[in-house]
Amino acid sequence: MLRVQVIHGPNLNMLGLREPKVYGTQTLASIEEMLVCEAETLGVVLDSFQSNSEGALVDCIQAAFGERDGILINPGAYTHTSVAMRDAIAAVGLPTVEVHLSNIHKREAFRHHSYIAAVAVGQICGFGADSYRLGLYALVQHLKSL
Ligand code: DQA
Repeated sequence: MLRVQVIHGPNLNMLGLREPKVYGTQTLASIEEMLVCEAETLGVVLDSFQSNSEGALVDCIQAAFGERDGILINPGAYTHTSVAMRDAIAAVGLPTVEVHLSNIHKREAFRHHSYIAAVAVGQICGFGADSYRLGLYALVQHLKSL
C-alpha cells in the first residue's frame, strides 16, 4: 500500500480560530478526519505531522526518506521563506504536492512566491479544506503512474 506523509506547517494548528474569513472554520482535526476518509477510498495510508518549527519540519521530511512514497504538504508561512524545507524535499526526492487553503496568488505580494513550488509535482491552492483533498487525489494518481 502507498504511504503518504502529510505535513502541516506553522499556525495551521490554529485553524478554526485563525482568520476564519481567509482560512475557513474547519479545524485541523476535522481536515485530518476528512483526509483519512479520502485515503481509505484511495487505498493509501497517511501519517500526519504538524509543527510550528522549521527544523522539526525539515526532520519530518528527512524521516520520510525510504519510509513513505510521497508527501502532501502545506508549508504555511515557510512556503515563502524556507530554503531549508525546499532543500529537504529535493534531498529526499519524494514526489511532493504543495497545498494551501487560500489562493496565495491573489493575496499580498510576499505570498506570491513559493520556495517549495519548484521542487513539487504541483501546487493546489484556493479551495479551502478541499485543497488538501484535491492535493491527496493528485498525489496518489501521480504515485500510481510511476
Ligand atoms: C497558507 C498560506 C500562507 O501564505 C500562510 O502563511 C499560511 C497558510 C494557506 O494554507 O493558505 O499559514 O499556507
